[in-house]
Amino acid sequence: MTNTFLTPQCLPLFVVVLLGALPGTAVPQDATIQSELEALRKQVEELSNLAVRTQSHIMVDVEYHFSNLWFAGRNEQWELASFYLRETDSHLRWTVRVRPVRSIRGGGSVDLQPFQQSIEQSGFAQLESAIEQEDVDEFEAAYRRTLTQCHACHQATGFAYLEHHIPEMPLSPLMLQPE
Ligand code: HEC
Repeated sequence: MTNTFLTPQCLPLFVVVLLGALPGTAVPQDATIQSELEALRKQVEELSNLAVRTQSHIMVDVEYHFSNLWFAGRNEQWELASFYLRETDSHLRWTVRVRPVRSIRGGGSVDLQPFQQSIEQSGFAQLESAIEQEDVDEFEAAYRRTLTQCHACHQATGFAYLEHHIPEMPLSPLMLQPE
């Protein structure tokens, strides 16, 4: 025997019955609203702290994509190179959205967006054109120039010691062969 009582069509009826069973629909008091607002404010604060802490994680992603890009380009895997360039670009934009301004030790702050825009409009644009033209020499030259732009932002934000070099090994063993 099938249980016709528990069909989806009965759901609205259940909801009505359930609501009817609840004690009188109390209007929330000011104090309740205040404490809920306070709880929400705390949650928002915790979430934005969490976002701020993820900037270094996102930069590790940038490093991963950008070093794989070197091998994809040198091995003339142009579609893969294009993928890694897009990932580098989108993660860098993301990291700036997450934390657009960095305070500097010793005082002052730095706006990250001009650095991100400059790398996007010069370094990444040159890499994109080298990839489109499938030109390994131009790709290498553009890659080296872009590395100096990575470093420019690190220097400005008090991380001059985070200086990148041409990678010796691809970080992805799956798609890329060492040279
Ligand atoms: C717009 C500024 C900016 C640009 C451009 C930039 N970075 Fe960063 N990067 C940062 C900041 C800020 C940190 C420090 C993040 C932290 O620790 O909170 C960082 C940290 C890093 C780290 C260390 C992450 C860790 O915690 O171990 C790596 C790796 C890195 N960046 C790679 C790169 C590479 C590769 C490029 C170029 C493709 C680049 N970055 C371009 C701002 C930038």
